[in-house]
Amino acid sequence: MTHLTLDITNVLSKTIGDEGIDRVLLGNVASKINRFKKTVYDTPYPFMDFSLLRSHLKDVNRVAEDLKKTKINNLILLGIGGSSLGTETIFHALLDPLHNLKKERKNNAPRYFILDNIDPSRIKQLADLAKAERKETLLIVISKSGETPETMSQFMVFKDILSIDKDYKKRIVIVTDKNKGMLREIAKREGYPSLPVPEGIGGRFSVLTPVGMLPASIMGIDIKKILDGAEEMSKHIEEAYYRKNLAVVIASILYLMDKKGKPMHVMMPYCERLNAFADWFRQLEAESLGKKGRGPTPLKSTGVTDQHSQLQLYIDGPKDKCITFLYSVDECLPIPDSFSYIEELNYLAGKDMKALFHAEFLGTRRSLTDAKIPNITITLDEISPFNIGALFFLYEMVIAFMGFLYEVNAFDQPAVELGKIYTKAIMGKKGLEEKGRIIEKELKGKRVLIEF
Ligand code: PA5
Repeated sequence: MTHLTLDITNVLSKTIGDEGIDRVLLGNVASKINRFKKTVYDTPYPFMDFSLLRSHLKDVNRVAEDLKKTKINNLILLGIGGSSLGTETIFHALLDPLHNLKKERKNNAPRYFILDNIDPSRIKQLADLAKAERKETLLIVISKSGETPETMSQFMVFKDILSIDKDYKKRIVIVTDKNKGMLREIAKREGYPSLPVPEGIGGRFSVLTPVGMLPASIMGIDIKKILDGAEEMSKHIEEAYYRKNLAVVIASILYLMDKKGKPMHVMMPYCERLNAFADWFRQLEAESLGKKGRGPTPLKSTGVTDQHSQLQLYIDGPKDKCITFLYSVDECLPIPDSFSYIEELNYLAGKDMKALFHAEFLGTRRSLTDAKIPNITITLDEISPFNIGALFFLYEMVIAFMGFLYEVNAFDQPAVELGKIYTKAIMGKKGLEEKGRIIEKELKGKRVLIEF
């Protein structure tokens, strides 16, 4: 059974001439990755350790079952970056798009709200909801470091609301480092149920740990199947011949595209359910590879919507882009013959929306290929927990391989850390007073302003 199919025809020079990649060159880079791959599978990165990932499943499901006994109606997830984007992707792909609006929700799952920003106007609305429905609101606080100001400040706001009730502690759960960080200290001191982010797995590589698995389990998603898909993908990457190896080939193509002056990597799902996957990928590629003046720029587009927004640029603008299409459509929806007196609409009447969606995808892909814009397509046979797990793991490995090619550490994010330090300094954190004073002085100094 084929779950995922990669089509690389439109990226090869045989198809698009000089804008494409020569097969020999592709093979050379792929074989270089292949040698690296062997060392990686000899000493796997922690995110590739499936016995470790599976070892958490029992605890995750137990905590989820306990929480569900409290009859929650709202799940509020506090977290940012790698602590929320994976869950967002899973929910977007696998839950009913109108889940929150349904009276009878599948698996009796709560409504969900992922709070990955601290704009007070957004927090306030959700805080009001939590105030009104305190006893039915569950808080999941996720932070690997347990120190991130956005997440900690949100937690402070929501704890204040929930803690009016004596039994509030059973409606808060924490996912953080096993030993380190303020959040761990809080979990211990105040006695909240908690799960670990395993050692050595950074935020954006943590979706298959309790970070993504706990919220998914609470919503009734089959997390074992997500891990099954990821592990099958891992076996494929370990065993498949390098020219037929999804991760090796995609990493080679994306890298070579950048080297050819096409550093704009657009991910364009033709599948609404995979929209959030493109956001997750955007973070993974940007934060992992954007180092030492290197790294491609990931962009997200939505098919068909952005045909009417971005496509003009992609086809006729600078030839600095390479497109990855993700394609999957399972639903059918007949288009009725509602205006039979208009002959011009005959080509739509009586057809299926699925056929139109497919035609638009093919039309877009063909027009890009005609303009010699390199593009690859990954087709998924269905949007299932298995395939979502496989896709997550595939791209985690793609990025790990690209880190090797770019000669950067794909697993740190020093530039992001600096921003966190400045924020804390401005807010007056102990030990950072001097930095805070310098920034304040700069702000009060001479600025170049244009006013209206
Ligand atoms: O990938 C990463 O490491 C980051 O994007 C983090 O996930 C993000 O900065 C949030 O950090 P934390 O999980 O420590 O709160």
